[in-house]
Amino acid sequence: MAQDKPAVLGGTRIVSENIRCCYPLVPNDIFSSGLQSALNDVLKSGMLSNFSKYSRNLENQLRDLLGVKHVLTVANGTTGLEILLSTLPRDSEVLVPSYTFSSTVHAIIIGRLKPKFVDIDKETCNISLQEVKSKITKSTSAILAVNVFGNPCQIHELEEIAQKHQLKLFFDSAAAIGSKYKGRLLGSFGHAEVFSLSSTKVVNAGEGGFIATNDDQLAKELDCRRNYGYSKVDKDCLHVGFNGKLSELNAIFAIWSLRNMERSISWRKKVAAIYHEQLRNIAGIHFQKTLEECDPNFCNFPLAIDSKEFGLNASVVHECLKQEGVETLRYFCPPMHLTKAYKEYNHHNLEQSEILSRQNLCLPIHSHLSIEQAQQICFVIARIHRHTEEVLHHYRALGDKRLMHKHESEAKNSLLLSSFRCGA
Ligand SMILES: Cc1ncc(COP(=O)(O)O)c(C=O)c1O
Repeated sequence: MAQDKPAVLGGTRIVSENIRCCYPLVPNDIFSSGLQSALNDVLKSGMLSNFSKYSRNLENQLRDLLGVKHVLTVANGTTGLEILLSTLPRDSEVLVPSYTFSSTVHAIIIGRLKPKFVDIDKETCNISLQEVKSKITKSTSAILAVNVFGNPCQIHELEEIAQKHQLKLFFDSAAAIGSKYKGRLLGSFGHAEVFSLSSTKVVNAGEGGFIATNDDQLAKELDCRRNYGYSKVDKDCLHVGFNGKLSELNAIFAIWSLRNMERSISWRKKVAAIYHEQLRNIAGIHFQKTLEECDPNFCNFPLAIDSKEFGLNASVVHECLKQEGVETLRYFCPPMHLTKAYKEYNHHNLEQSEILSRQNLCLPIHSHLSIEQAQQICFVIARIHRHTEEVLHHYRALGDKRLMHKHESEAKNSLLLSSFRCGA
């Protein structure tokens, strides 16, 4: 029956319009909600940027919401990381997971620092405490932990380690706005946290970001560095600086998006509950583990697909879902230490990061995804799972070497599987 076959084998596609993996929350009440008049206000004021009214307004709102002393808007999360890391002593080592987005590591190099890659806990996708402890040396100046996919790390334990060894503790919370740790919204942990407001995030400005910190001295320095390094007092250039300005137009979008944050997260939680409920009995599908004290925002919905148990690897499932009209993304594939740019740092045993990067597949999750679409996605994954042998046969017949490995262990050490089209 065509209904029972996956689309890749000639079955009927049940998804009518292609489903995107991420989709920004675009206000649908643009003319009635005051957004239009805010945009007019900016255009009339002649102040399109330069930390003006709406950028300041956004900072105040975020400061109150996150319960942190200082919020500094920046042009995007990448620039925020670069500005923050430029405050560290040059040539020192920064402990960082390899299983992260490239910007996390680029910021270390741009700050003339040395990345020291640390493995992760494969279940939470976050930095491993054991690994952090074992990789601290006299040259280490900071830990740059990432709240991967919006799932908070073991924050208090990391704070204890940082305090014991007198290290700076920074969080790349790019994906984690609205996530909570021990009941508190992220933003006030460690010495500073950096957030992204790009279109794939729960709160989006089109492009944008911010740094949050409780440290007065650090906030002063960051404020200077994000403004080309200029001091506000005597106009001298005090530090190596950046153009970190968030435009007023982007700030307005962020303010409107922020109003929908809670609604957006509760919707994502409903979608996540459907995925958990309907996929949990399929062999080989593993969900990201959340620690008891953590309440993630579900910025992403990552799966780890164990090919031995499922019968197909994540790359094949990604291709099959594409045929069904479902876009999935394979994040951090390959992990940073195996990229061309960072091959000189590939001297650590980062087994869990490598396994997860081969197994990762992020399912669609956003405010515009309907419950029916989430159910359809589960339905097509289950039907792909019922036909794993035929799917393998199909790709073998096509001679598609990239896709025909049944288990990732067959491609051991070659990283053949993770060098496939990685939709990230
Ligand atoms: C973990 C992480 N760090 C940094 C960034 C960079 O943020 P931006 O795109 O705002 O520069 C991203 C973006 O997705 C990210 O996921």
